[in-house]
Amino acid sequence: MSEDLNIIPGTKAEQYESLIPQIKGLLDGEPDTVANLANVVAALKEQFGWLWVGFYLVKPVYVKASADHNLAKVSDENTELVLGPFQGPVACTRIKKGKGVCGTCWEKAQTIIVADVEKFPGHIACSSLSRSEIVVPVIRNNEVIAVLDVDSEYLDHFNETDRTYLEKIVKVIEF
Ligand code: SME
Repeated sequence: MSEDLNIIPGTKAEQYESLIPQIKGLLDGEPDTVANLANVVAALKEQFGWLWVGFYLVKPVYVKASADHNLAKVSDENTELVLGPFQGPVACTRIKKGKGVCGTCWEKAQTIIVADVEKFPGHIACSSLSRSEIVVPVIRNNEVIAVLDVDSEYLDHFNETDRTYLEKIVKVIEF
């Protein structure tokens, strides 16, 4: 079966309007979250060509056990963001609540648009090429369970159109 996307030119809204039904088609009938997140970021990257697009998932904090260097689970109450499926340059793997744009989005449970990352106190620079950013929370049962992070190498690249459509996209993903 062909999984080719139909990539179109046009306004941002036209591009999202074309992409969303295709994303729904990619996810239809597939219960595996990692597979679905991977296809969502691949579809977004292919349509928009952004520098970086990916998910961070809220997961229990892990620490290295000193004796055998295995990762040991600490507690379900103690959580942090952990890198999930993404497209773009390698990125930091763990982000604490309230830290950076992603951790702030998680803490506030609201979308954050940053026109100039250098002006966002505490911004975590995973790529020196990133100039602007939007981070959208994924909310289920009134809790943030993940965030969708998008970075651009252009200043002031994201606006209310991105907020509207990216918030729609994260709603269609089953977790
Ligand atoms: N800039 C983000 C960190 C993640 S990377 O951009 C992929 C932040 O400040 O939270």
